[in-house]
Amino acid sequence: MIRVENLSKTFVLHHQNGINLPVLYKAELTVNAGECVVLHGHSGSGKSTLLRSLYANYLPDEGHIHIKHGDEWVDLVTAPARKVLEVRKGTIGWVSQFLRVIPRISALDVVMQPLLDLGVSKEDCRTKASSLLTRLNVPERLWHLAPSTFSGGEQQRVNIARGFVVDYPILLLDEPTASLDDKNSAAVVELIDEAKARGAAIVGIFHDEAVRNRVADRLHPMGAAA
Ligand SMILES: Nc1ncnc2c1ncn2[C@@H]1O[C@H](COP(=O)(O)OP(=O)(O)OP(=O)(O)O)[C@@H](O)[C@H]1O
Ligand SMILES: [Mg+2]
Repeated sequence: MIRVENLSKTFVLHHQNGINLPVLYKAELTVNAGECVVLHGHSGSGKSTLLRSLYANYLPDEGHIHIKHGDEWVDLVTAPARKVLEVRKGTIGWVSQFLRVIPRISALDVVMQPLLDLGVSKEDCRTKASSLLTRLNVPERLWHLAPSTFSGGEQQRVNIARGFVVDYPILLLDEPTASLDDKNSAAVVELIDEAKARGAAIVGIFHDEAVRNRVADRLHPMGAAA
């Protein structure tokens, strides 16, 4: 589902004397359907940078990110913007560490939106979103409120529900369990297991060792780029 080849990324700090910060150097990564690969390395080793590159948030300096999109392979490094948006809409789900809260939009609508965008009926979207919010223990009294006033963990669970509302073929998870207690972490692990069972390819970052070992089919070591 994912084939990363020869991927390099150096950040240039233009406002700090143009200092070069090499983060990825000729990185390679292959992820198959039904497996969860966990990026593993010290803080600053480039885990989030690689994950963001897989969502085309960062443009690498060289290399390829081949993504299986339906029947075709798309290279996110060279694809035009509209193709990248199409791949994000139908193929790649993304759970960032923090929810970008949109004022005045209810939690239920935030969760439903990606499924609605695919043309699924409002009723089915609401059913799926409600079921996920329930499984993630977001109290029903909060569903119709905008998540801006929610606690960190509540916001994160809304974020996770949004990431899992579509059965994406690929899921990218940047520390989805970071601000969650054991019960909610377990709920997320269960969602990951189900996604794997339906054939999703998952790339994740998990700081908690127990969660990491529980969900990872394989650890992908992140080395120091030099
Ligand atoms: N947008 C950016 N501009 C400049 N430097 C960046 C940018 N994003 C990341 N970096 C640098 O790249 C390096 C890798 O960062 P990254 O966030 O990928 O690390 P990480 O492995 O996810 O770390 P952590 O475990 O702390 O989340 C860091 O030294 C960071 O300062
Ligand atoms: Mg990170």
